[in-house]
Amino acid sequence: MDKIRIVGGNALAGRVEISGAKNAALPAMAASLLTADTIHLENIPYVRDILTTRNLLREMGSEAEVRKDGTATLRAAELHSFEAPYELVKTMRASILVLGPLVGRFKKARVSLPGGCAIGARPVNLHLMGLERMGAKCEVVHGYIEASTEGLHGAYILMETVTVTGTENLMMAATLAEGETILDNAACEPEVSDLADLLRGMGAQIEGDGTRTIRISGVRKLRGCRHRIIPDRIEAGTFAIAAAITRGDIEIANCRPHQLTAVLTQLSQTGAEVDIGPASFRVKGRDPVLSRNVTTYPYPAFPTDMQAQYMALMTQGDGIAVITETIFENRFMHALEMIRMGADIAVEGRQAVVKGGRSLTGARVLASDLRASASLILAGLVASGETWIDRVYHLDRGYFHIEEKLAALGANIERVP
Ligand code: UD1
Repeated sequence: MDKIRIVGGNALAGRVEISGAKNAALPAMAASLLTADTIHLENIPYVRDILTTRNLLREMGSEAEVRKDGTATLRAAELHSFEAPYELVKTMRASILVLGPLVGRFKKARVSLPGGCAIGARPVNLHLMGLERMGAKCEVVHGYIEASTEGLHGAYILMETVTVTGTENLMMAATLAEGETILDNAACEPEVSDLADLLRGMGAQIEGDGTRTIRISGVRKLRGCRHRIIPDRIEAGTFAIAAAITRGDIEIANCRPHQLTAVLTQLSQTGAEVDIGPASFRVKGRDPVLSRNVTTYPYPAFPTDMQAQYMALMTQGDGIAVITETIFENRFMHALEMIRMGADIAVEGRQAVVKGGRSLTGARVLASDLRASASLILAGLVASGETWIDRVYHLDRGYFHIEEKLAALGANIERVP
């Protein structure tokens, strides 16, 4: 299994191009199941979760091609299976995104119920509740969600918790339901709006995406189209922290800075210099790094997917920062690894108290999930000596060529097979 080796201490400088957003590409690929026509996608990051989704679509009978140049051609003219098997769902929870499209178009689906994962319980009860409100019958049998319907109809669906994939699943199902569906307390994440844009391109009638209330008027049929995936705001945010933590100077290009407002505002408050352009921004790290509290919330607030990376920065702060995680109940695994590198972090429930001003030292550390791996890389960039990161497959699920991009900015980093 590959490992990543970093020798810390270099200030990173230069320009980095941001790839397409994995979390927008995954629902877009699932949406291809809603039509018999071909969907062409561009700006797809060639990362593991994308290939897993391609395999899942192929197993169901879709002709799915994903190329290294970031294009994908997906055609689900006919399917011979309506199932997402446990073997795939256990490696990628986002497989649940095929549920809504399958029930919407084929009136049936069998999708393995995702179990818990490293960051929390992550239930899918709201996906099922919403489908039932639209007239589907959902049962859990032998670890699988078995859903079927005579035909979906519009419904008013209030989601008690803001859920990204839940909103996406129900929005996709509703595009082919009879009548109007209202999704209330919907997720406003840019990835939801990107999916709505794709669906509109396919002929769906959707309004209100990007707000808490989405209205979908069902249509009889959807058609093929071409769609470009939005840039990855979490990858952009990760490089922003790389600049701040190494006291470097990085231009982060090919992104949408306004989708990162909460992160960039927070970063400015820690003393970094942030210059924002229309499709890029530049971060200059400054001494001292000021310790500032943060709390994760749904978009447009500070994202849970940036919490681990921000914690790495706070280990270098001038005082104490309290980090509060409100989305997932167990998303501080990276803290324990940072402590092994010399950080002073006390975790209690959903809060981590990070005392800054400790010099980190390189160590062998284990990545527990995707964003945790990124945070350990960031810590390794400022640690003295060698840091070895194990279980790099988490990183490969979602970051495209991250070690090459960091090396091009001057990091001493390599992948060791
Ligand atoms: C998505 C993102 C993930 C990000 C997360 C939170 C993708 C593929 N993944 O994950 O990177 O970390 O949003 O922004 O886009 N919940 C319920 N019932 C449900 C569904 C969710 O109670 O049916 C709760 C969860 O326990 C959690 C919260 O809602 O507390 C958010 O979960 P959810 O939005 O579903 O996260 P994902 O969509 O899995």
